[in-house]
Amino acid sequence: MAMTLGSPALPDLSARILEDPSEKLWALETRSSSYVLRVDGNGVLRNLFWGARLGGGDYADAAFAAGSEEYPGWGGPVFVEAGLKLTRADGVRDVVLRYHSHRQPDPDRLVIRLKDCNEEIFVNLHYRVFEDYDLLGKRVAVENRTSQSITLESAQSGVWRLPPADSYRLTHLAGHWGAELRLAQQPIQPGMIVLDSRRGKTSHRANPWFAIDEGGRADEDRGEVWFGALAWSGNWKLAVERTDAGDVRVVGGMNTFDFAYPLAPGESLETPHFYGGYTSGGFGQASRNLHRFTRNEVLPDRASPQLRPVVYNSWYSVYFDVNESLLKRVADRAAPLGVEVFAIDDGWFGERNDDTAGLGDWHTNPEKFPNGLGPVIEHVNNLGMKFGIWIEPEMVNPDSDLYRSHPDWVINFPGRPRSESRNQLVLNIAREDVKEHLFQTFDKLFSDHKIEYVKWDMNRDITEPGWPGVAPEAQRTLWVEYVRSLYELLDRLRESHPDILFETCSGGGGRVDLGIIARSGQIWTSDNTDPLDRLKLQHGFSLPYPPKIMMSWVTDVPDSHNGRTTSLKYRFLVSMMGSLGLSVALEKWPEEDLDYAQEMIALYKEIRETVQHGDLYRLASPWQGETTANQYVAEGGGQSVLFVFRHSQQFRERIPPIRLMGLDPNASYLLRPIDDKLSGGARAVSGAYLAAHGLALDLVGDFDATAVVIDRAN
Ligand code: GLA
Repeated sequence: MAMTLGSPALPDLSARILEDPSEKLWALETRSSSYVLRVDGNGVLRNLFWGARLGGGDYADAAFAAGSEEYPGWGGPVFVEAGLKLTRADGVRDVVLRYHSHRQPDPDRLVIRLKDCNEEIFVNLHYRVFEDYDLLGKRVAVENRTSQSITLESAQSGVWRLPPADSYRLTHLAGHWGAELRLAQQPIQPGMIVLDSRRGKTSHRANPWFAIDEGGRADEDRGEVWFGALAWSGNWKLAVERTDAGDVRVVGGMNTFDFAYPLAPGESLETPHFYGGYTSGGFGQASRNLHRFTRNEVLPDRASPQLRPVVYNSWYSVYFDVNESLLKRVADRAAPLGVEVFAIDDGWFGERNDDTAGLGDWHTNPEKFPNGLGPVIEHVNNLGMKFGIWIEPEMVNPDSDLYRSHPDWVINFPGRPRSESRNQLVLNIAREDVKEHLFQTFDKLFSDHKIEYVKWDMNRDITEPGWPGVAPEAQRTLWVEYVRSLYELLDRLRESHPDILFETCSGGGGRVDLGIIARSGQIWTSDNTDPLDRLKLQHGFSLPYPPKIMMSWVTDVPDSHNGRTTSLKYRFLVSMMGSLGLSVALEKWPEEDLDYAQEMIALYKEIRETVQHGDLYRLASPWQGETTANQYVAEGGGQSVLFVFRHSQQFRERIPPIRLMGLDPNASYLLRPIDDKLSGGARAVSGAYLAAHGLALDLVGDFDATAVVIDRAN
């Protein structure tokens, strides 16, 4: 859609991409944001604005701003983090990018082609507008059309620049194994903050998501927040920089650390997708936008979203000691509770009696399963449940038949020491033969058995990243090719077995990002299942990622991580805020616990559409006080569910009434408490009352919890 710069006539505001061809000015429009780009007199593409939606004629005004270079190459006086850095075969390292051309393949997409000022090195900047979610997508393709090879040292997915302001605050997620995805906040001072992974996977340590607000002005419910998420499951980097000019920029993409990607003449490299959004509705709205976007545009079931099943998993109950008769007995107890998928975790294959052996030998252990997996699967199916299984395809134990026959398949620098972690080495899945072997192995496993759920694990970092057999100058492409091969393998297996639901896991949440989420419908959030710790981990998870894919198991007490004992109710309610699972020693449970679990699973099924496909409002944060409260509102507003947790109590203070959000003030709602903790009990109240007065809940002592189902009555 064309508009005229400075013209009093308003452009067609229904268009998502507004263009002024004479000025080479574009405005990318979502419901409530604008992103304005312009080519300056020197041919430099500049970002002029990203923030709240501008009025029609005002784009012209934005054009008076100098802005900053949208995607700088490292050449000339560029001292900020560049988008592109390269070395040519002749040693020349300068690259100066200028506007070349542009096209709009459809109403939501814009491609701006940049070219080096001298040579045929092109950078295509791909933009996509996701109007309904207030999000934009960016990715880049770098093409070498010169006659000499070049080596890319940085090819970032994009740069997000915020409007100049005095102070900005960065919110991100940080942690380690068993404590991943925890909230971290810091001011953005002059200099650079680098969030990254150098571990070959997304990592427990940091997550490729950011949110920025001005000087801490935004909170959960209000204020401007700029945020973004990178879809890449290998080494990544977000460089958050406050420049000499006072600009704040976030440059993100594949990590530049140990990165070198040669491009022969005619070759190109595509970067991962980098999504960014703006909202004036605080961190809560930023999350809701990302959740809806992920459910409807990213997940494998995006075309017709499916509810996630209730899963039983054997891990925390028996660890490696799985066998046919035990599993059948446990399945007999799981089915009447309402479990829908019965999954065997580690220990079912090869000589896998602990974590020292067997990885790589993906055939059933004959002592544990003398008749193969068939009888267990049949038993599980006859009980009305689907059968699921754990695998860790990318790994091998040196003590395995696979390693003994293919010692050359692992990632290593020949002749150098190589680190083992959990007694395992990493297979080089970038090699065609390894990738094909894995495809054949798992294609056969899934074809020979009725497997409908797969938990795909990856339990260590990549170290000593050598790729024996390829030329020295291509060695570092391993970081990229490993991830591409992983995606290819998952895509091929999903295509051959479309009915399998894949859960991704990496020692818990070590590989959580929008790249892997596009290929697996579920995430194992953390190996830490203590419900109090989980409130914080799940809070962090929910900042970028939707509750629907957040697998959360009820486990036995005392907790295996920290020895804490909490009630079954507390544990169930924490797990019911995501995708519910159980990993408990059911054969040891007393009748009353089995009855209670049955009740809670039935309740979960009643509210799961609301939890999994609804909007999440984080009413009280576990980081801020002694109470956590989360509310979910179903699409269409017919049902809402409130979960409230008291962490501990000192003195005799009551928790303040919890005020609800996202409801219609004029509607009447029926309150259905799950127990006697709601002051006033079951009754009908107005949406206005719930928002203004809120619900008083009688939670006392340590680890008390409740939930209220709220159904719209009119
Ligand atoms: C990882 C996973 C666990 C479990 C074990 C099995 O630690 O996160 O859930 O599957 O591996 O070895």
